[in-house]
Amino acid sequence: MSGNLQFNKILGAGLATALVIMGVRIGVDALYHTEAPAKPGYAIEVAEAPEAGGVAAVELDPDWGTVLPTADIAAGEKVFAKCVSCHNDHEGGPNMTGPGLWGVVGRPTASHAGFGYSDGMKAHAAEAPTWSYDQLYHFLANPAKWVKGTKMGFAGIKKPEERINLIAYLHTKGSSLGIPAPDPTRQPGAAPAGAPPAGDAPAAPAAAPAPAAH
Ligand code: HEC
Repeated sequence: MSGNLQFNKILGAGLATALVIMGVRIGVDALYHTEAPAKPGYAIEVAEAPEAGGVAAVELDPDWGTVLPTADIAAGEKVFAKCVSCHNDHEGGPNMTGPGLWGVVGRPTASHAGFGYSDGMKAHAAEAPTWSYDQLYHFLANPAKWVKGTKMGFAGIKKPEERINLIAYLHTKGSSLGIPAPDPTRQPGAAPAGAPPAGDAPAAPAAAPAPAAH
């Protein structure tokens, strides 16, 4: 008899655990399906969300004119530690497993002298001829997904902040691109503020608060 009671207790505990797991899963799903961005200027992280039907969730590209000036370049240099086994970022640096990355921000795609690019990367160059901020941002999130057939064997950097810091760091390495002006259309939620017409703008909180390091 008491054995039976014991069994019931165990069953009960198992059910309770299952309910908690379900609850957590529902909570996590809710988190990942939040439409509103958490921070102005940052893309929504859709990290490990399942790719049902291959349709990516809404992802806004960062507003580079806002995020680059406040990016943490030293932190970006630390992220670059993940790249140094394959890439050199010095001026005139050699090609290694991967091409030299001096000046890569703004450089034509698949153009570094002496490097044998994959067919996938060469095909990508036809669609995306330049390593713009947006291109780097997407490529570095998941190289194999953004450039089909790339031979860059690297899983990617999931956190938008880390990619932004990394791109800000690479930007200091001989980039040909300037920092663009802030783009109000990339400021989700920031109504038609952005660049108020001279003079008569209402005293609304115009500038978005600088994204806190998180
Ligand atoms: C395991 C080696 C490896 C690692 C680690 C790696 N890469 Fe690469 N990378 C490559 C290879 C190989 C290519 C050439 C890809 C091709 O031709 O498909 C490449 C290509 C690139 C390109 C395109 C350059 C061009 O000239 O078109 C960029 C940008 C880049 N890598 C950035 C990075 C950054 C930033 C990191 C670190 C976050 C990184 N890579 C980590 C091997 C690597």
